[in-house]
Amino acid sequence: MSIRVHSVSKTFGRQKALDNVSFSVESGQITGFLGPNGAGKSTMMKIITGYLQADSGLVEIDGRRMGEDSIDLRRRIGYLPEHNPLYLDMYVREYLEMVAGIYGIGSRRKAVGRTMELTGLLPEGHKKIGALSKGYRQRVGLAQALLPDPSILILDEPTTGLDPNQIIEIRELIKHVGRQKTVMLSTHIMQEVEAVCGSVVIIDRGTVKAGGRTDEVARILTGRTTVEVAFSRNPDTRTLAAALAQADITADGGIISISTDPDVDVRPQLFAFAVQHGLTLTHLVKKGGHMEDVFHALTSQGARADGQS
Ligand SMILES: Nc1ncnc2c1ncn2[C@@H]1O[C@H](COP(=O)(O)OP(=O)(O)O)[C@@H](O)[C@H]1O
Ligand SMILES: [Mg+2]
Repeated sequence: MSIRVHSVSKTFGRQKALDNVSFSVESGQITGFLGPNGAGKSTMMKIITGYLQADSGLVEIDGRRMGEDSIDLRRRIGYLPEHNPLYLDMYVREYLEMVAGIYGIGSRRKAVGRTMELTGLLPEGHKKIGALSKGYRQRVGLAQALLPDPSILILDEPTTGLDPNQIIEIRELIKHVGRQKTVMLSTHIMQEVEAVCGSVVIIDRGTVKAGGRTDEVARILTGRTTVEVAFSRNPDTRTLAAALAQADITADGGIISISTDPDVDVRPQLFAFAVQHGLTLTHLVKKGGHMEDVFHALTSQGARADGQS
Protein backbone atom coordinates (compact mmCIF):
# COMPACT_ATOMS: atom_id res chain seq x y z
CA MET A 1 0.00 0.00 0.00
CA SER A 2 1.31 3.43 -0.86
CA ILE A 3 1.07 6.65 1.14
CA ARG A 4 0.60 10.00 -0.56
CA VAL A 5 0.78 13.23 1.39
CA HIS A 6 -0.58 16.29 -0.41
CA SER A 7 0.16 19.83 0.85
CA VAL A 8 -0.36 19.07 4.52
CA SER A 9 -0.08 21.96 6.96
CA LYS A 10 -0.52 21.94 10.72
CA THR A 11 -0.18 24.74 13.24
CA PHE A 12 -0.18 24.46 17.04
CA GLY A 13 -1.08 27.87 18.38
CA ARG A 14 1.45 30.08 16.66
CA GLN A 15 3.86 27.18 16.01
CA LYS A 16 3.76 26.01 12.41
CA ALA A 17 4.71 22.33 12.73
CA LEU A 18 4.09 21.39 9.08
CA ASP A 19 4.09 23.81 6.17
CA ASN A 20 2.65 22.54 2.90
CA VAL A 21 4.27 19.10 3.14
CA SER A 22 3.98 16.73 0.16
CA PHE A 23 5.72 13.41 -0.45
CA SER A 24 4.91 9.82 -1.21
CA VAL A 25 5.97 6.50 0.21
CA GLU A 26 5.93 3.64 -2.26
CA SER A 27 4.55 0.22 -1.52
CA GLY A 28 6.86 -2.50 -0.23
CA GLN A 29 9.75 -0.23 0.78
CA ILE A 30 11.34 1.05 3.94
CA THR A 31 11.31 4.82 3.80
CA GLY A 32 13.23 6.95 6.25
CA PHE A 33 11.66 10.15 7.54
CA LEU A 34 14.76 12.07 8.48
CA GLY A 35 14.95 15.35 10.35
CA PRO A 36 16.31 17.03 13.48
CA ASN A 37 14.24 17.33 16.65
CA GLY A 38 11.26 19.59 16.18
CA ALA A 39 11.22 19.10 12.39
CA GLY A 40 7.62 17.88 12.40
CA LYS A 41 8.16 14.11 12.02
CA SER A 42 5.89 12.98 14.85
CA THR A 43 3.17 15.43 13.84
CA MET A 44 3.25 14.11 10.26
CA MET A 45 3.10 10.52 11.44
CA LYS A 46 0.12 11.22 13.69
CA ILE A 47 -1.68 12.76 10.70
CA ILE A 48 -0.85 9.76 8.47
CA THR A 49 -2.18 7.34 11.07
CA GLY A 50 -5.35 9.40 11.54
CA TYR A 51 -4.63 10.33 15.19
CA LEU A 52 -4.40 14.01 14.32
CA GLN A 53 -6.24 16.12 11.74
CA ALA A 54 -4.30 18.33 9.34
CA ASP A 55 -5.39 21.98 9.11
CA SER A 56 -5.24 21.65 5.34
CA GLY A 57 -4.07 19.15 2.73
CA LEU A 58 -4.76 15.45 2.67
CA VAL A 59 -3.28 12.00 3.12
CA GLU A 60 -4.16 9.15 0.78
CA ILE A 61 -3.55 5.51 1.59
CA ASP A 62 -3.72 3.45 -1.61
CA GLY A 63 -5.76 6.22 -3.19
CA ARG A 64 -8.25 6.48 -0.33
CA ARG A 65 -8.46 9.57 1.80
CA MET A 66 -7.46 9.19 5.45
CA GLY A 67 -9.70 10.91 7.95
CA GLU A 68 -10.75 10.60 11.57
CA ASP A 69 -13.57 8.26 10.61
CA SER A 70 -11.45 5.99 8.39
CA ILE A 71 -11.67 3.04 10.78
CA ASP A 72 -11.00 0.40 8.14
CA LEU A 73 -7.98 2.29 6.76
CA ARG A 74 -6.58 2.76 10.24
CA ARG A 75 -6.78 -0.99 10.76
CA ARG A 76 -4.38 -1.48 7.88
CA ILE A 77 -1.77 0.73 9.55
CA GLY A 78 0.41 -0.39 12.45
CA TYR A 79 1.75 2.52 14.50
CA LEU A 80 4.55 2.65 17.02
CA PRO A 81 4.36 6.06 18.70
CA GLU A 82 7.48 7.90 19.77
CA HIS A 83 7.16 7.40 23.52
CA ASN A 84 5.19 4.22 23.38
CA PRO A 85 3.38 3.72 26.67
CA LEU A 86 3.37 0.13 27.91
CA TYR A 87 1.75 -1.45 30.96
CA LEU A 88 4.86 -2.39 32.91
CA ASP A 89 2.93 -4.56 35.36
CA MET A 90 1.47 -6.80 32.69
CA TYR A 91 3.05 -9.95 31.34
CA VAL A 92 4.18 -9.78 27.71
CA ARG A 93 1.73 -12.38 26.40
CA GLU A 94 -1.09 -11.11 28.58
CA TYR A 95 -0.55 -7.57 27.30
CA LEU A 96 -0.47 -8.60 23.64
CA GLU A 97 -3.63 -10.66 24.11
CA MET A 98 -5.32 -7.63 25.60
CA VAL A 99 -4.22 -5.50 22.63
CA ALA A 100 -5.48 -8.19 20.23
CA GLY A 101 -8.81 -8.01 22.06
CA ILE A 102 -8.95 -4.23 21.61
CA TYR A 103 -8.25 -4.64 17.89
CA GLY A 104 -11.04 -7.21 17.75
CA ILE A 105 -8.79 -9.86 16.25
CA GLY A 106 -10.66 -13.14 15.81
CA SER A 107 -8.09 -15.86 16.47
CA ARG A 108 -6.36 -13.97 19.23
CA ARG A 109 -3.96 -16.66 20.47
CA LYS A 110 -2.81 -17.43 16.97
CA ALA A 111 -2.20 -13.77 16.13
CA VAL A 112 -0.32 -13.21 19.39
CA GLY A 113 1.79 -16.36 18.88
CA ARG A 114 2.66 -15.41 15.30
CA THR A 115 3.58 -11.86 16.28
CA MET A 116 5.66 -12.97 19.27
CA GLU A 117 7.56 -15.37 17.06
CA LEU A 118 8.17 -12.66 14.45
CA THR A 119 9.49 -10.21 17.05
CA GLY A 120 11.56 -12.77 18.98
CA LEU A 121 9.38 -12.46 22.09
CA LEU A 122 8.39 -16.11 22.54
CA PRO A 123 11.00 -16.77 25.27
CA GLU A 124 9.90 -13.61 27.12
CA GLY A 125 6.15 -14.16 27.07
CA HIS A 126 5.92 -15.02 30.77
CA LYS A 127 7.93 -11.99 31.91
CA LYS A 128 6.53 -8.71 33.12
CA ILE A 129 7.09 -5.90 30.61
CA GLY A 130 8.72 -3.87 33.40
CA ALA A 131 11.38 -6.61 33.75
CA LEU A 132 12.44 -6.39 30.10
CA SER A 133 15.39 -4.45 28.71
CA LYS A 134 14.60 -1.35 26.67
CA GLY A 135 15.34 -3.26 23.47
CA TYR A 136 12.82 -5.95 24.38
CA ARG A 137 10.24 -3.38 25.47
CA GLN A 138 10.60 -1.88 22.01
CA ARG A 139 9.96 -5.36 20.56
CA VAL A 140 6.72 -5.41 22.56
CA GLY A 141 5.85 -2.04 20.99
CA LEU A 142 6.61 -3.43 17.54
CA ALA A 143 4.60 -6.57 18.29
CA GLN A 144 1.65 -4.41 19.31
CA ALA A 145 1.89 -2.49 16.01
CA LEU A 146 2.20 -5.75 14.04
CA LEU A 147 -0.66 -7.63 15.73
CA PRO A 148 -3.41 -6.89 13.19
CA ASP A 149 -0.95 -7.82 10.39
CA PRO A 150 -1.08 -4.32 8.89
CA SER A 151 0.10 -3.53 5.35
CA ILE A 152 1.70 -0.29 6.50
CA LEU A 153 3.95 0.20 9.49
CA ILE A 154 4.61 3.70 10.86
CA LEU A 155 7.48 3.68 13.37
CA ASP A 156 8.31 6.91 15.19
CA GLU A 157 12.00 6.89 16.20
CA PRO A 158 11.99 3.14 16.88
CA THR A 159 15.64 2.98 17.98
CA THR A 160 15.92 6.17 20.03
CA GLY A 161 17.12 5.46 23.56
CA LEU A 162 18.45 1.98 22.82
CA ASP A 163 22.05 0.86 23.26
CA PRO A 164 24.14 0.02 20.17
CA ASN A 165 23.45 -3.74 20.26
CA GLN A 166 19.73 -3.19 20.75
CA ILE A 167 19.75 -0.70 17.89
CA ILE A 168 21.25 -3.30 15.56
CA GLU A 169 18.70 -5.92 16.66
CA ILE A 170 15.72 -3.62 16.20
CA ARG A 171 17.01 -2.48 12.78
CA GLU A 172 17.38 -6.11 11.69
CA LEU A 173 13.86 -6.81 12.88
CA ILE A 174 12.51 -3.80 10.95
CA LYS A 175 14.36 -4.91 7.81
CA HIS A 176 12.92 -8.40 8.20
CA VAL A 177 9.37 -7.13 8.67
CA GLY A 178 9.91 -4.58 5.88
CA ARG A 179 10.21 -7.30 3.25
CA GLN A 180 6.44 -7.76 3.31
CA LYS A 181 5.17 -4.33 4.26
CA THR A 182 5.37 -0.64 3.50
CA VAL A 183 7.40 0.83 6.34
CA MET A 184 7.97 4.45 7.23
CA LEU A 185 10.35 5.11 10.09
CA SER A 186 11.39 8.44 11.51
CA THR A 187 14.85 9.14 12.81
CA HIS A 188 17.23 12.00 13.45
CA ILE A 189 20.18 9.68 12.76
CA MET A 190 21.40 9.76 9.18
CA GLN A 191 23.33 6.48 9.50
CA GLU A 192 20.05 4.80 10.37
CA VAL A 193 18.62 5.79 7.00
CA GLU A 194 21.71 4.47 5.22
CA ALA A 195 21.55 1.22 7.19
CA VAL A 196 17.86 0.51 6.84
CA CYS A 197 16.04 2.62 4.26
CA GLY A 198 15.84 2.29 0.48
CA SER A 199 14.32 5.74 0.22
CA VAL A 200 14.23 8.87 2.30
CA VAL A 201 12.23 12.04 2.89
CA ILE A 202 14.22 14.79 4.59
CA ILE A 203 12.24 17.30 6.62
CA ASP A 204 13.33 20.39 8.53
CA ARG A 205 11.25 23.07 10.25
CA GLY A 206 8.07 21.64 8.84
CA THR A 207 9.26 21.68 5.23
CA VAL A 208 10.37 18.83 2.97
CA LYS A 209 13.96 19.43 1.82
CA ALA A 210 14.59 16.39 -0.34
CA GLY A 211 13.27 12.94 -1.13
CA GLY A 212 13.91 9.89 -3.24
CA ARG A 213 16.10 6.81 -3.25
CA THR A 214 18.60 7.03 -0.42
CA ASP A 215 21.67 6.60 -2.63
CA GLU A 216 20.29 8.97 -5.28
CA VAL A 217 19.49 11.69 -2.78
CA ALA A 218 22.94 11.41 -1.26
CA ARG A 219 24.56 11.35 -4.67
CA ILE A 220 22.70 14.34 -6.10
CA LEU A 221 23.06 16.46 -3.02
CA THR A 222 26.66 15.79 -2.24
CA GLY A 223 27.55 16.04 -5.91
CA ARG A 224 30.05 13.18 -5.75
CA THR A 225 29.86 9.46 -6.40
CA THR A 226 32.22 7.03 -4.75
CA VAL A 227 33.28 3.64 -6.02
CA GLU A 228 35.07 1.30 -3.64
CA VAL A 229 37.35 -1.23 -5.21
CA ALA A 230 39.87 -3.88 -4.17
CA PHE A 231 42.21 -5.94 -6.32
CA SER A 232 43.91 -9.27 -5.73
CA ARG A 233 47.14 -7.27 -5.35
CA ASN A 234 47.43 -3.57 -4.47
CA PRO A 235 48.18 -1.58 -7.61
CA ASP A 236 50.41 1.47 -7.58
CA THR A 237 47.91 4.28 -6.88
CA ARG A 238 49.76 6.68 -9.17
CA THR A 239 49.37 4.28 -12.08
CA LEU A 240 45.69 3.89 -11.17
CA ALA A 241 45.26 7.68 -10.90
CA ALA A 242 46.81 8.07 -14.35
CA ALA A 243 44.30 5.58 -15.75
CA LEU A 244 41.35 7.39 -14.18
CA ALA A 245 41.45 11.04 -15.07
CA GLN A 246 39.45 13.47 -12.90
CA ALA A 247 39.02 11.11 -9.97
CA ASP A 248 40.07 11.51 -6.33
CA ILE A 249 41.70 8.34 -5.07
CA THR A 250 42.28 7.36 -1.47
CA ALA A 251 43.51 3.99 -0.26
CA ASP A 252 42.80 2.43 3.12
CA GLY A 253 44.39 -0.99 3.50
CA GLY A 254 43.33 -2.99 0.48
CA ILE A 255 40.23 -0.85 -0.20
CA ILE A 256 40.61 1.97 -2.69
CA SER A 257 37.95 4.70 -2.77
CA ILE A 258 37.49 6.57 -6.00
CA SER A 259 35.37 9.67 -5.94
CA THR A 260 34.12 11.38 -9.11
CA ASP A 261 31.44 13.67 -10.46
CA PRO A 262 28.10 11.87 -10.44
CA ASP A 263 27.88 11.56 -14.22
CA VAL A 264 31.22 9.73 -14.46
CA ASP A 265 31.20 5.94 -14.17
CA VAL A 266 34.71 4.62 -13.54
CA ARG A 267 33.72 0.97 -13.34
CA PRO A 268 34.44 0.04 -16.98
CA GLN A 269 37.84 1.72 -16.64
CA LEU A 270 38.52 -0.29 -13.48
CA PHE A 271 37.77 -3.56 -15.29
CA ALA A 272 40.06 -2.53 -18.13
CA PHE A 273 42.77 -1.52 -15.64
CA ALA A 274 42.56 -4.89 -13.89
CA VAL A 275 42.83 -6.79 -17.17
CA GLN A 276 45.72 -4.63 -18.37
CA HIS A 277 47.72 -5.17 -15.17
CA GLY A 278 46.88 -8.81 -14.65
CA LEU A 279 44.83 -8.12 -11.51
CA THR A 280 41.59 -9.64 -10.33
CA LEU A 281 38.82 -7.42 -8.92
CA THR A 282 37.92 -8.77 -5.50
CA HIS A 283 35.51 -5.99 -4.50
CA LEU A 284 33.59 -3.31 -6.38
CA VAL A 285 30.81 -1.23 -4.84
CA LYS A 286 29.25 1.97 -6.09
CA LYS A 287 28.15 4.30 -3.33
CA GLY A 288 26.33 7.58 -3.17
CA GLY A 289 27.64 10.46 -1.17
CA HIS A 290 27.14 10.33 2.55
CA MET A 291 23.72 11.00 3.99
CA GLU A 292 25.32 12.72 6.92
CA ASP A 293 26.72 15.42 4.64
CA VAL A 294 23.36 15.78 2.95
CA PHE A 295 21.60 16.06 6.26
CA HIS A 296 23.92 18.74 7.57
CA ALA A 297 23.74 20.65 4.34
CA LEU A 298 19.96 20.68 4.37
CA THR A 299 18.89 21.05 7.94
CA SER A 300 19.45 23.47 10.73
CA GLN A 301 21.91 20.94 12.21
CA GLY A 302 20.34 20.44 15.55
CA ALA A 303 17.36 20.79 17.76
CA ARG A 304 15.21 23.87 17.69
CA ALA A 305 14.98 25.62 21.02
CA ASP A 306 11.32 24.66 21.26
CA GLY A 307 11.74 21.26 19.66
CA GLN A 308 10.49 18.09 21.19
CA SER A 309 12.40 14.91 20.66
N1 LIG B 1 0.68 19.23 20.78
C1 LIG B 1 1.52 20.22 20.46
N2 LIG B 1 1.32 21.48 20.93
C2 LIG B 1 2.15 22.49 20.60
N3 LIG B 1 3.22 22.37 19.81
C3 LIG B 1 3.48 21.15 19.33
C4 LIG B 1 2.65 20.01 19.61
N4 LIG B 1 3.17 18.94 18.99
C5 LIG B 1 4.27 19.38 18.33
N5 LIG B 1 4.45 20.70 18.52
C6 LIG B 1 5.52 21.53 17.94
O1 LIG B 1 5.56 21.27 16.54
C7 LIG B 1 6.91 21.18 16.09
C8 LIG B 1 7.14 19.80 15.47
O2 LIG B 1 7.11 18.81 16.49
P1 LIG B 1 7.25 17.26 16.23
O3 LIG B 1 6.29 16.86 15.16
O4 LIG B 1 7.12 16.57 17.54
O5 LIG B 1 8.75 17.18 15.67
P2 LIG B 1 9.75 15.92 15.61
O6 LIG B 1 8.96 14.68 15.83
O7 LIG B 1 10.38 16.01 14.25
O8 LIG B 1 10.77 16.13 16.70
C9 LIG B 1 7.78 21.47 17.30
O9 LIG B 1 8.14 22.82 17.28
C10 LIG B 1 6.89 21.15 18.47
O10 LIG B 1 7.24 21.89 19.60
MG1 LIG C 1 9.18 13.24 17.17
